[in-house]
Amino acid sequence: MSSIVVIGAQWGDEGKGKVVDYLAQKADAVVRYSGGSNAGHTVVVNDVPYKLRLLPSGILYHGKICILGNGVVINPGVVLQEIKEMHDKGVDISRIAISDRAHVVLPYHQLLDELQEEALGKAKIGTTKGGIGPCYMDKVARVGIRVCDLMDKEVFAEKLAINVKAKNEIITKIYGGKPFDYDAMLQEYLGYADQLRPYVTDTGVILDELCNDNKKILFEGAQATFLDIDHGTYPYVTSSNPTAGNACTGSGIGPRFINHVVGVVKAYTTRVGAGPFVTELLDTDGPGNQIRETGHEYGTVTGRPRRCGWLDAFMLKYSARLNSLDSLAITRLDILDQMKKIKMCVGYKIDGVEIKQIPASLKTLSKVEPVYEEFNGWMTDTSKCRSFDELPAGAQKYLNRISEVAGVPLGIVSVGPNRDQTIVMKEYF
Ligand code: GDP
Ligand code: IMO
Ligand code: MG
Repeated sequence: MSSIVVIGAQWGDEGKGKVVDYLAQKADAVVRYSGGSNAGHTVVVNDVPYKLRLLPSGILYHGKICILGNGVVINPGVVLQEIKEMHDKGVDISRIAISDRAHVVLPYHQLLDELQEEALGKAKIGTTKGGIGPCYMDKVARVGIRVCDLMDKEVFAEKLAINVKAKNEIITKIYGGKPFDYDAMLQEYLGYADQLRPYVTDTGVILDELCNDNKKILFEGAQATFLDIDHGTYPYVTSSNPTAGNACTGSGIGPRFINHVVGVVKAYTTRVGAGPFVTELLDTDGPGNQIRETGHEYGTVTGRPRRCGWLDAFMLKYSARLNSLDSLAITRLDILDQMKKIKMCVGYKIDGVEIKQIPASLKTLSKVEPVYEEFNGWMTDTSKCRSFDELPAGAQKYLNRISEVAGVPLGIVSVGPNRDQTIVMKEYF
């Protein structure tokens, strides 16, 4: 196979960065196709963690082409800082390519993100406040500023003037906030434009050439299936399509070139931000807390404690359908090593009656009761296991059951953050 899409099958932070970095060993290119700096992908190399927000998780290998596709929203300050950090660490940054069609996150997007959240009060989404939603809003409203516009001083000045005027009206008149200074923003972004210019190109053309030469391409999903604007727990979602289909639209290749889709799944479930969570554990000294503390479940981008719960394998079935999952990469199995009892949700019930699909209505979803199966914990350190056979029988049983309920074969089992803590059960490239 020559191209693989890696997506999050839950609510994010499943370990996509680790899985992509692992698979990138044999890839020629790694492509981000959606989201922006709301993503926080951790890659650990020789015990050193690298937290990537916009740069693809192939950057830590030499020679891999790293593409930020048209579907990504680019905060120039964030990406330039990441590029600088990589350069300072001796990483070759010349192989980074940024799509001229990607949209640019501007300071008014960030402020509007905050103001919109504040205005929602109790109903707030719990966004990462990076301006991601408002930037995608502008894209869809056809008033957004693309990277190609930023590269052209005249076009940028004109588009920025229209946007600053319109956004200042909203900021001052609706929210009573302070207006932005156009000139200061123009100068700041023209400075970014010069620094970004060497990386900006038509990345669709690069990808087309790679595809036609049968090169190995990895598409790195950000966010996750249940944060998808169409298929997630709307409105408690992000403003883009993290699902596998968008690997095509968000990068500019056709579906024929996708050979395999990997769904990354935590061995349990977490969520940051608000919204429904059927298997959430709300205890302060029970299994929910044990998972949070053992797993250091605090957000990479925001530092917020992540909400923790049992694995929802029923959700995975839906994820498998939406993404055409070909294999599962189950991560963080080691975090469950010391749990005496482990539960897995294998179905949903409403008023005692099993339902077959996940309801669209959040009102209906709030009535769902999880159907659990209980497993004995294996109470054994799995972090040194390097093959499926080396895993304790209890862990094998748990993993096989996840695969069975999801209807997707196991491909990878991860037992720690390091590259070598990876059990691979199939050949990917
Ligand atoms: P992403 O957003 O999907 O890339 O995931 P994050 O990087 O936000 O969160 C996953 C965290 O789990 C990171 O700190 C990883 O280094 C870590 N991680 C990944 N796989 C494993 C694993 O199998 N075991 C443990 N203990 N940590 C892991
Ligand atoms: P990675 O790629 C987990 C969540 C936010 C919030 C909602 C909307 O690291 O898995 P946004 O800022 O996107 O408008 O916030 O989506 N969210 C994530 N949660 N992992 C992520 O990315 C996320 N990106 C956004 O917490 O609930
Ligand atoms: Mg993350």
